[in-house]
Amino acid sequence: MTNKKIGILTSGGDCGGLNAAIRSIFYRAKNKYNMDVFGIKDGTAGFMQRPVAAVELNHKTFGGYLLRQGGTFLGSTNKGNPFKFPTKDGKYLDRSKDIIEGYHQMNLDGLIIIGGDGSMQILKKLAKEGEMKIVAIPKTIDNDVGATESSIGFHTAVDVATQALDNLQSTAASHRRSMILEVMGRDAGHIALNAGIAGGADIILIPEIKYSIDGIIKKLNSMKKHDIQHSLIIVAEAVKTEDGSIVLHKYMDGEKRLGGIGDYIAQELMKKTDVECRVTSLGHVQRGAPPTASDRILASAFGVYAVDLINEEKFDRMVAWKDRKVVDVPIDEGIRTYKNVERKDSLVETALSLDIYIGDEI
Ligand code: F6P
Repeated sequence: MTNKKIGILTSGGDCGGLNAAIRSIFYRAKNKYNMDVFGIKDGTAGFMQRPVAAVELNHKTFGGYLLRQGGTFLGSTNKGNPFKFPTKDGKYLDRSKDIIEGYHQMNLDGLIIIGGDGSMQILKKLAKEGEMKIVAIPKTIDNDVGATESSIGFHTAVDVATQALDNLQSTAASHRRSMILEVMGRDAGHIALNAGIAGGADIILIPEIKYSIDGIIKKLNSMKKHDIQHSLIIVAEAVKTEDGSIVLHKYMDGEKRLGGIGDYIAQELMKKTDVECRVTSLGHVQRGAPPTASDRILASAFGVYAVDLINEEKFDRMVAWKDRKVVDVPIDEGIRTYKNVERKDSLVETALSLDIYIGDEI
């Protein structure tokens, strides 16, 4: 009997822990089931190439260091929905059939996709149209995938943001400044809330809770009464201006991406007070950092479980972390709800009881 053959691809924005997940998939597949394991390059783009851009993984691939490395050695992409794929001349093509054909050319017995909700949606559609046998592992620094308590990459991003606050503390105190740290997270405030608590922020601004500049000033004034002249403010990238506008950066490619709310807060505070502000925007440092221990562990546990699902031929499932163990749910159910910060979250209450200003509605 020939060995079963499985593929792995990483799709969407990279993050810490992807290499750890690939490593774990390889070990489980090889050691327990004697499967042949292929890494598809650059997400679904690898399936568009002929021959398909894929590498067979072996023990040497992992040689010790990949576990510790951020990013994904297979490459990824978060551009170009294959159903509406941008061409060089500004038009769009449906490349879904190429991907499906590439998948079948490889004669895979299953494909593990490591992606966020956007990637899972696309791959689910491809799988349905092309009879692809997929199992999904959730990864995203935003931690917004509904059915899992944690996604790969989130803890690393929180750790990076916490360390940034640690480093900003001393310089804030030396110069009696308000240091504003802008973090990623898309429409969810999990990174800001978690890192804000861990890094001792005085003010946490997240998209889910309305704030006001006056509310921030009131907090700064109350700190002054205790003779504290410096402060740490952490703000999530999707927080809006007071009048409700989204703050975006326009890039050279013409695309607009979230970014700049930290500068807005700084300008508003400096207009209305004598507080000296400085802004740090952490950006992709949160994604490229070496994975924390907890992300390596989560990724390893997800990898093992995903291979077991393939072996049992349980497809169209997403692995999830729930009540201290790995479980699986249908992919649709896994991504049905967008996981925001909720007012009733324990961490919101924690922030409040630590005297952190987190908004006016609370
Ligand atoms: O979804 C992950 C994420 O890092 C978001 O937090 C951020 O808004 C976005 O991706 C950045 O995407 P890009 O890598 O395209 O700049």
